[in-house]
Amino acid sequence: MIDPKTIKWEELGFGYIECAYRYVSKFKDGKWDDGALVTDSNIVLNECACVFQYSQSCFEGLKAYYTKNGDIVCFRPDMNAERMYDSALRLEMPPFPKDKFVEACEKVIAANKDFVPPYGTGASLYLRPFMFGSNPVIGVKPADEYEFRILVTPVGPYFKGGAKPITIKVSDFDRAAPNGTGHIKAGLNYAMSLHAIQTAHREGFAENMYLDPRTRTKVEETGGANFIFVTKDGTLVTPKSDSILPSITRRSICYVAEKYLGMKVEHREVFFDEVKDFAECGLCGTAAVVSPVGKIYDHGKEICFPSGMEEMGPWTKKIYDTLTGIQRCEIEAPEGWIKVIK
Ligand code: PLP
Ligand code: COI
Repeated sequence: MIDPKTIKWEELGFGYIECAYRYVSKFKDGKWDDGALVTDSNIVLNECACVFQYSQSCFEGLKAYYTKNGDIVCFRPDMNAERMYDSALRLEMPPFPKDKFVEACEKVIAANKDFVPPYGTGASLYLRPFMFGSNPVIGVKPADEYEFRILVTPVGPYFKGGAKPITIKVSDFDRAAPNGTGHIKAGLNYAMSLHAIQTAHREGFAENMYLDPRTRTKVEETGGANFIFVTKDGTLVTPKSDSILPSITRRSICYVAEKYLGMKVEHREVFFDEVKDFAECGLCGTAAVVSPVGKIYDHGKEICFPSGMEEMGPWTKKIYDTLTGIQRCEIEAPEGWIKVIK
């Protein structure tokens, strides 16, 4: 384990650094145990564990960070608890109780205080709650035993270059989230997207724009973030689909755009054909925060957004400033959005 005093917080990318404690709870004989913080970062499992054979696993992602007045807070952990509950049900796993999820987040953050990046460094402590089927199964069926864990790692920006607009490509591959299962964050969905993301990176693109696999006419999301678009007259448009992850950041942005910025907000199907007419495009998510997209490459053609090639477009900047202001407690947050860690 690294000594946190030696971490260069400003230089962090989005990578894994082993921290002091992780939270572990086990499900056996039909119930979850009390859970505990442990120091060992290794997991020993039988070779036939369901997670290895049939990828029975799901995960979440959220961040903890310092505010200006010295509090450590995290953003809407109840929403992650709820989404993970849904993921577990869809994967025939026993859902982890939502109140215990939030409690476990608090415990693991408090235990790893030394790894929470200082205020103003731009970095934060990323929490990765995850759950998997742990006992041996060989016939195709769910496990009987499970582990719920939360690991933490300090992280910097997800995309290299921080707030600089990125270039993405229209993917030749489908994101493997079968229709109706987009609301889950499951290991296998991401495994099936690894070839697509590596292909995009090899070609020099930061991410993929996935289109709906059935008709390839509608915009879905990227590998790790939802889309936001702004029209020339300042309307926020976000794609609606059954096969994309309902981003907590995106749902927060829609609220902020309407209630704090007075924008018109549309959550609807977005056809790829209309993308060229938007003024601004961005990606949003816990890891991505709000990252501007300057250019979309589509098989030899390019869509360049009129504002946002060199820096964030004006509406994207307003959304970014307001959302991050709320997250850092510099702008009053809607009730229940900020959880202070004691
Ligand atoms: N879409 C995908 C595929 C993701 O992996 C993520 C990251 O969690 C998101 C969207 C953004 O979701 P959230 O804002 O809840 O982090
Ligand atoms: C997150 O934003 O928490 C995610 O899970 C995205 C992942 C691709 C890092």
